[in-house]
Amino acid sequence: MCGIIGYVGKKEALPIILDGLHRLEYRGYDSAGVAVQSSVGIKTARAVGKVAALAERCEGKSLAGTAGIGHTRWATHGKPSEKNTHPHTDCTKSFFIAHNGIIENFQELKEQLSKIGHTFKSETDSEVIAHLIEDAYKKTLNLEQAVQSALRKLRGTYGLAVISSLEPERIIAARMGSPIVIGFGEGENFVASDASPLLSYTRTMLYLEDGEMATLTPQAHTVRTLNDKIVMRSAEMIEWDANKIQKGGFSHFTLKEIMEGPKVIENTLRGRLIAEGGLARLGGLQTISEKLRTAKRIIIIACGTAFHAAQVGEYMLEEYAGIPVEVEFASEFRYRKPIINSETIVIAISQSGETADTLEAIREAKRKGATVLGIVNIVGSTIAREVDAGVYNHAGPEVSVLSTKAYISQLVVLALLTIHIGRERQMSLSVGRRIAKELQELPKKMEKIFESAKNIKSLAKKYAKYEHMLYLGRKYNFATAFEGALKVKEASYIHAEGCGAGEMKHGFIAMIDKEFPTVAMALQDSVYDKMLSNIQEIKARSGRVFAIATEGDKKVAKFADDVVFIPQTLEMLSPILAVIPLQLFAYYLTLERNLDPDRPRNLAKSVTVE
Ligand code: F6R
Repeated sequence: MCGIIGYVGKKEALPIILDGLHRLEYRGYDSAGVAVQSSVGIKTARAVGKVAALAERCEGKSLAGTAGIGHTRWATHGKPSEKNTHPHTDCTKSFFIAHNGIIENFQELKEQLSKIGHTFKSETDSEVIAHLIEDAYKKTLNLEQAVQSALRKLRGTYGLAVISSLEPERIIAARMGSPIVIGFGEGENFVASDASPLLSYTRTMLYLEDGEMATLTPQAHTVRTLNDKIVMRSAEMIEWDANKIQKGGFSHFTLKEIMEGPKVIENTLRGRLIAEGGLARLGGLQTISEKLRTAKRIIIIACGTAFHAAQVGEYMLEEYAGIPVEVEFASEFRYRKPIINSETIVIAISQSGETADTLEAIREAKRKGATVLGIVNIVGSTIAREVDAGVYNHAGPEVSVLSTKAYISQLVVLALLTIHIGRERQMSLSVGRRIAKELQELPKKMEKIFESAKNIKSLAKKYAKYEHMLYLGRKYNFATAFEGALKVKEASYIHAEGCGAGEMKHGFIAMIDKEFPTVAMALQDSVYDKMLSNIQEIKARSGRVFAIATEGDKKVAKFADDVVFIPQTLEMLSPILAVIPLQLFAYYLTLERNLDPDRPRNLAKSVTVE
């Protein structure tokens, strides 16, 4: 989704801003722009499409200067076009803003501002902010105060960066519901919507809280609230280094991140398993251990891929920890009347830790008295900071818009949580030990699946011609089927639908013919025989079947047209392995269709609007 980068210092700002915008590309966007403070006022460049197009546009313009802001836009109000691209300005072209989020009362503000003579050049909600600052500056003659006054009139969400030709060498940044991070250098300071574009310059950073704004000059920074109270908070060191966010020899981040799966499992498990004792030590849950032991019910909220992880988690927790679990889309949760009390534990799963739907659902759950636990990948993200307790995924930065390795780590955390809660309740030592031991075996079993990559690639060649696909799974791999279908839709734009294998005969089977192939999860587990029957039902209707099966299974090939084998593991852990061939299949299908898996159309990495 939209991204912001800003620089104020001694160096030329443009190359730093363009580099930052490149690093923000993973968030998904449709246009990009810059505004640079030069000796003769602020100069801008904008382009629809890639940051590369913007960089080309900048070549012909004199954009020299040591302060500036840049933005990648993901359209919400107003279609992708040059006039809607940020940074936006006011009537006098003295104030330039880059904004992430949505201003809910923009229409009302626009009408008020138009009545007093302001003219608008874009269809965006964001432009009102520049005009409000222009208006306020006339009275205050102080940029900081003018921004503060403008922000008090806004309803909605913002992550904001502002520069002005009237007060050069200064950036004002502010946050309400959309993340802003400040980076500190030697004689230079930065602002961005997440840490990734700043990592090549500094690892000393400060995350703004909602309702805070910062003023940056090359030498100094101040943080205050919208009510003008000075905030004294120390910066933190961000551990990720810039190299981790490079492709490292892979053609796409998607492939690199899928192949990181075994490492991710090791990192997620590190220091957390006590294999002999059949225990999982999760430090972040210490403060709520009593609540976890006595809770009557768990609700897991999440969106997209994280929702599929939650579905697997439900099965794990109910079967092995013996606690009732419900899973709900975060986007639905807050709009109905969920029954929650102080004996309910709500678990929020989010890779980015910034998903607006999940965040609002967390706030609703907290208002209703639940204890909220987060499973989050991004350290210091809003969700990580708002929950009562949590477990970090330790999957490292996920750059591809397609969530792959984060899904693996979410499932591993859920397995750890199952041991953690289960051993406090009904799980025996031997079961705890068994799960712990099997978790440790997963990295090398996953490495084995990668040996099939060539085979999966050639299958993708065969299947890329189809316009529709069915993904079928049951029990633990019910969610795997939906996740496999989601990956295919997101990246290759092939219409793929997940379906519970048992549900197929209640409707979906009508769609099956030779043009509608099925990817079937046919592992040798407790639902194996049922899955084989479903495969035969599809074959009887001329549907092609590609099965994911257990190594050594001789039977499945008799029914399925194509098979990829994965190593045997505990049924509850099988989704961690079974999703790998599906991720690779989606990746190769996307390449076959000449599309970019790292940056699918219309999608954003971090969905910060509802
Ligand atoms: C799928 C994907 C999305 C996210 C969803 C939730 O590949 O990336 O479906 O899983 O938007 O995002 P997080 O986990 O950041 O809350």
